[in-house]
Amino acid sequence: MTDHSLSIVVLAAGAGMRMKSELPKVLHPLAGKPLIGHVLTTAEELEPAHTVVVLKHQKERVAEAIAQLRHDVTIVEQDEIPGTGRAAEVGTNALPVGYAGDVLIVSGDVPLLTAAAIEQFIAGYRASGAAAGVLTANIDDPTGFGRIVRDQRGSVVKIVEHKDADTATREINEINSGTYLFSVPALLDALGRVGMQNAQGEKYLTDVIELLAATGPIYGHTVTDNWLVAGINDRAQLSDVSLELNRRLIRQHQLAGVTIQDPASTFIDVDVAIAQDVTILPDTQLHGATVVHPFAQVGPGTTLIDCEVGSGATVNRVHATSARIGAGANIGPFTYLRPGSEIGVDGKVGAFCEMKNATLGEGTKVPHLSYVGDAEVGDHTNIGAGSIFANYDGVNKHRSKVGSQARTGAHNVFVAPVTIGDGAYTAAGTVVRKDVDAGDLARSYAPQQNIEGWVLSHRAGTAAADAVEAAKDDSDR
Ligand code: UD1
Ligand code: CA
Repeated sequence: MTDHSLSIVVLAAGAGMRMKSELPKVLHPLAGKPLIGHVLTTAEELEPAHTVVVLKHQKERVAEAIAQLRHDVTIVEQDEIPGTGRAAEVGTNALPVGYAGDVLIVSGDVPLLTAAAIEQFIAGYRASGAAAGVLTANIDDPTGFGRIVRDQRGSVVKIVEHKDADTATREINEINSGTYLFSVPALLDALGRVGMQNAQGEKYLTDVIELLAATGPIYGHTVTDNWLVAGINDRAQLSDVSLELNRRLIRQHQLAGVTIQDPASTFIDVDVAIAQDVTILPDTQLHGATVVHPFAQVGPGTTLIDCEVGSGATVNRVHATSARIGAGANIGPFTYLRPGSEIGVDGKVGAFCEMKNATLGEGTKVPHLSYVGDAEVGDHTNIGAGSIFANYDGVNKHRSKVGSQARTGAHNVFVAPVTIGDGAYTAAGTVVRKDVDAGDLARSYAPQQNIEGWVLSHRAGTAAADAVEAAKDDSDR
């Protein structure tokens, strides 16, 4: 249910210099979603009346990425005045005129914060009747963070940025997470009075805390799980957070009934769905919108991107993108499934096979060393070893069709477009250029010629010739 007295402003206008990247910081991927996507998902779960995102650095690019995730957020651009205080001001001013409820300010670079943790923060803030709320954490190495300064009675009096802090203040281990709650009128009033006289020459959002502390108590809510407030400023922090999120996701899947043999070499994106009694073997990555149904076994050494794996299927040393693998099917080892690959129930695609934009029916097998591209194959058909669907004429791609219960020979080439009927056979080495009717046998037949004694007359003195002589002696004896 919408909380009509809650709005959210996400700060994401910063340049993210410490990432040293062409890609805007908040678009760096984490478990299959951009950083800002995690923050927006959490924001959505809180069901606020309004959500505003403040952008500036590479605004178009970030806005485009946001549009792919959500349509109900307002995007505003920060002006030339730098700092989190200005960003919060621009964002809060973008809320509808007359909105006078609470505003939750979050950073676009703090991806692990959960809706449950924020709900506790909101409940405590509202119960306290405080002038403002700040989410804090006690951390061993607070270098770089703003410090929470409390008076003798433990009330929060101000936040001091690391760069502006004296030695005594730098000793404080309680840090500002960058997550706050304010009433809109109080925030805007205080921001109007914040200057830019500090080490960074910026308008700090943190400065409003001291101003509001003069009007009433500040509610400081300290998290016990510090990962919730981990911010990402550089790529080292990105990998730290990524590994921790992965550990948490794996633990959730394990507790939900998934066997994951080696969590350290298994990577699972946030939106992946894995059913109970699935087994994931080492060195496996499940990405995007991948779905794995019960009793399937995935891995070892497998990467699946946006794939569906049917119940009881086996997927061993496979790299697949946008593929659908039927129940009970057996894929691998060493198989490459490209977008549009569909394998039927109990189908098989074996070692060193590649598939693209192709459908295999129920029980159909492509067991060895083949390429199936732009093709439709019926049910219970067997494609012989080392066969190629030659789909590309150098200019255009063409589709081929093979019926059900067909048996194609080893080392065939199907020159597309070509159709092979139900129950048809093709002989080994056939180059199928013409359609084959149901029940026919196709062969492209070049008679075999044996030239008697060729080795002794043309390769005398070689090891092969010696072998021929030895074979002759044996048969003479
Ligand atoms: C900020 C806090 C610090 C806190 C830390 C927690 C301030 C002054 N400092 O520092 O107390 O401990 O977060 O992670 O607020 N942003 C804008 N516009 C700007 C500048 C920043 O939108 O002009 C956005 C950034 O994109 C980012 C967020 O605000 O999402 C925080 O900015 P960042 O530069 O990372 O602040 P910190 O130095 O981490
Ligand atoms: Ca930060």
